[in-house]
Amino acid sequence: AHITFDSSKLQKFVHDNELGEMQAMVTAADSELRNGTGAGADYRDWLNWPNDYDKEEFDRIKKAAQKIQSDSQVFVVIGIGGSYLGAKMAVDFLNDTFYNYLPDSERKTPQVFFAGNSLSSSYVYDLIHLIGDRDFSVNIISKSGTTTEPSIAFRIFKDKLVEKYGEAEAKKRIYATTDANSGALHDEAKAEGYESFVVPDGIGGRYSVLSAVGLLPIAVSGASIDDLMQGAADAEAEYVSPDLTKNEAYQYAAYRNILYRKGYTTELLENYEPNMMMFSEWWKQLAGESEGKDQKGIYPSSANFTTDLHSLGQYIQEGLRNLMETVVKVDKPNHDVEVPKEPQDLDGLGYLEGKTMDYANTKAFEGVTLAHIDGGVPNMSVHIPDQTAYTLGYLIYFFEIGIAISGYLNGINPFNQPGVEAYKTNMFALLGKPGYEELGQKLNDRL
Ligand code: PA5
Repeated sequence: AHITFDSSKLQKFVHDNELGEMQAMVTAADSELRNGTGAGADYRDWLNWPNDYDKEEFDRIKKAAQKIQSDSQVFVVIGIGGSYLGAKMAVDFLNDTFYNYLPDSERKTPQVFFAGNSLSSSYVYDLIHLIGDRDFSVNIISKSGTTTEPSIAFRIFKDKLVEKYGEAEAKKRIYATTDANSGALHDEAKAEGYESFVVPDGIGGRYSVLSAVGLLPIAVSGASIDDLMQGAADAEAEYVSPDLTKNEAYQYAAYRNILYRKGYTTELLENYEPNMMMFSEWWKQLAGESEGKDQKGIYPSSANFTTDLHSLGQYIQEGLRNLMETVVKVDKPNHDVEVPKEPQDLDGLGYLEGKTMDYANTKAFEGVTLAHIDGGVPNMSVHIPDQTAYTLGYLIYFFEIGIAISGYLNGINPFNQPGVEAYKTNMFALLGKPGYEELGQKLNDRL
């Protein structure tokens, strides 16, 4: 396999027989997933997507990306939740750490900024200020077209486009990624003639990064979406067997379920690369929205190392013992840097002279793993060889299928998200949206 799942550090926490004893349940979960007999069966199109995706649309995405690269210095990507996190994590994972800060002469492709993922007015104001009088285009991503955060941001940036370019040119700078057949954004895009891409019906937001939702922003940043899809396609072929001795994504699902039942109810996804912070945010939605329901589920959290070893590290080492951790470790960083030699060893670092920073990072990873095990934190790791688009596609698929199987193992529907509606209903009512008057009054009385 291109990436490897390492469970060898679980000995202290899981007996040898336990994985095998999960096989029958894993086989059943695999059958629910692949045969569509499990809950949420309508949302499994991501399973074969790396091969079945719409090739005509894929080419249109590449062409649109080229146009945006040629006529825009800034690309504003508007969306929230599943219509945001995948694109953001991939753009971060695949590009220079300081991509947006590089001079245009070096970057060659537009700055990519995200909006509509909060209701902060300062954020939007500051982004408009940053764009200044430079050329920009907008990608509005919303399946429903009625999500408050992106809808407000879209109105604002649309207004700026019209102000700068006039109505006709503004429409050519708006790219709408939305439902294929219906919804407010679909209807607007059709009426206004925006170039449109599809949020597929059979793929929930958190599984949508390999659709147009993620692909257009990723392509605009200059990363290879061909390699990304190839990595995912190879992972699809790799993680096809229900046999736990063969399928490492299923091993991950089984082990986290074994640990969950022993009281390890929080899982930390950890990294040793700052540009993978958003990868953990993407994973947190994937895991949390898939599994946190019916009053149960592993709570997904994250930590960024070695940074957080100097803060959260204390809790992880000695706090409440309900934590397990999964590290995504890059085996070969994009760039390595040597510790320079100094004539005098005033800082006592002489023993590291000539060694590389990645050597230190890897030793930190090894030392932390053993310390956490000794402190009572079960440790798993996923080793990825590099931070290429191919590897990211592979890794995305590993977690997508691992979490789906994990959800079925825990007896829930991994593909719905009834809980995210509660706040939306209250917010609509409090904002005075037509149709919510009665609830608005009740809520205001309680406030
Ligand atoms: O996973 C989900 O369903 C959510 O995170 C949605 O993706 C998010 O609320 C955005 O929805 P929409 O794409 O309809 O604007």
